[in-house]
Amino acid sequence: MFFPQFRARRIRGNEVFRRMVRETTLSVNDLIYPMFSAFGSGIKKEISSMPGIYQQSIEHIVADAQEVYGLGIPAVLLFGIPETKDAVGSDAYCDTGIIQETIRAIKREVPGLVVITDVCMCEYTDHGHCGIIKDGDVDNDSTLELLAREALSHARAGADMVAPSDMMDGRVAAIREALDENGFDKIPIMSYAVKYASGYYGPFREAAESTPQFGDRRSYQMDPANRLEALREAASDIDEGADIIMVKPGLPYLDILRDLRNEYNLPLAVYNVSGEYSMIKAAAIQGWIDEERVVLETMLAFKRAGADIIITYHAKDVARWLKQG
Ligand code: PBG
Ligand code: ZN
Repeated sequence: MFFPQFRARRIRGNEVFRRMVRETTLSVNDLIYPMFSAFGSGIKKEISSMPGIYQQSIEHIVADAQEVYGLGIPAVLLFGIPETKDAVGSDAYCDTGIIQETIRAIKREVPGLVVITDVCMCEYTDHGHCGIIKDGDVDNDSTLELLAREALSHARAGADMVAPSDMMDGRVAAIREALDENGFDKIPIMSYAVKYASGYYGPFREAAESTPQFGDRRSYQMDPANRLEALREAASDIDEGADIIMVKPGLPYLDILRDLRNEYNLPLAVYNVSGEYSMIKAAAIQGWIDEERVVLETMLAFKRAGADIIITYHAKDVARWLKQG
């Protein structure tokens, strides 16, 4: 492959050639849209660090879900902001909790839309951690029981898929067992298999009102310096019965996404998290970058690195741009 026999520019010369040799594609089918359901009514409150993203009460969530469905996006990922929080996150596994009611409303009004739920305790605990606190740290094994109850109550309310994000050891197995024992053997688990302790979650914690009241999440989320550990985390979740594995955050961890793609043949998801969204939005609002171009390039980067599924706050915009393009 030497010049002048080889000229890389020959197949780059016009748009039809470029289309013919394009290696990676992006489709609306790849997208999942995250939503924040707030207790109450008449609430539609924009998250200041995430322009275009709202905390919404159920009637607004349902209208939004209708729009998402109309755009052809296959699924939403739900987070709840409950009326009250306590030490053991009771609302998380209450059959009339915020998420359970939201699932019922969406499945009633927009039955064709896949509803995935985030399974974790941090939105429901008054201390903001992802599990039960014992001796100043999150206790793994007692948290498993509550996560299993939470996932089961989501399934009972009609969730199509559950997505545990807590990072307790053994939670995929605990959830799988609870679902199977109760007749929900067909409900898939998308596990946040590889989830780093990341500064990029900052805006989300404003959105979900889930900032830890003491310490941080480094005793359960992964150290950003580690790469081999990602393979161990993914392997254990797959052994425990995960149907889809996820890497989170996205852009700073594309190498990890590629590692998992090379190592495993399960569907692979990536979470393009709140801080990644906020950075693009902020620059776009300043007029410093072309938002559509940068977002589509970012989505393509996830696909190129090996993702099958992209969870992103840009999903509605991406769906619109793909339609026009
Ligand atoms: C809950 C959870 C978090 C995110 C998804 N599920 C926050 C956290 O772990 O602190 C982050 C999503 C985002 O930043 O967009 N465990
Ligand atoms: Zn959590």
